[in-house]
Amino acid sequence: MKKSIYTLTSLLSLSIAAAPSCCTPSAPSMQEKAPISTVDRTFAMIKPDAVKKGSSGAIIDLIEKNGFCIINMKKLTFSTKQAETFYAEHKERPFFAELVRFITSGPAIVLELEKENAITDWRTLIGSTDPAQANVGTIRKMFAESKSYNAVHGSDSPAAAKREIGFFF
Ligand code: RTP
Ligand code: MG
Repeated sequence: MKKSIYTLTSLLSLSIAAAPSCCTPSAPSMQEKAPISTVDRTFAMIKPDAVKKGSSGAIIDLIEKNGFCIINMKKLTFSTKQAETFYAEHKERPFFAELVRFITSGPAIVLELEKENAITDWRTLIGSTDPAQANVGTIRKMFAESKSYNAVHGSDSPAAAKREIGFFF
């Protein structure tokens, strides 16, 4: 891995020193209610290509260095039915069969992440679907092989985050 985490943190306008101490929120005042909502959580996956190549440790390190708190994480192999359901929005697309074969090809790591603006910040950090189009410093630029085998997934909306988190956790 050639790119430094400084490049990545600048993508998110964070500095390492400013990255929040994960999972240690300040105590709410008497008037405040518990502030956590699904809007501040997203679903991430380290896909089978990245797990197979031994990149999961480096990707998890980037997740934490960029201020995301790992709420839940597990390693599993998708069944065909799970993959078809998870990516159901793409079932009419020409790449759907290849996508299902890829996602079921070996273990993946699924994560529930928390951070302010978690959904958009995670999508920024992972980069474009096609690594050839992804910005320097993004996870896909560093770890993805191709548009099909692209190392990581991220929810693309609050509704998707809620659905995808609920799918596994
Ligand atoms: P993801 O859902 O996995 O985070 O990816 P994304 O939003 O960046 O891209 P999306 O359009 O939702 O596509 C889902 C996944 O399908 C595979 N794909 N292959 N060969 C192709 O043209 C093609 N297009 C998409 C990728 O694995 C992509 O991440
Ligand atoms: Mg998508």
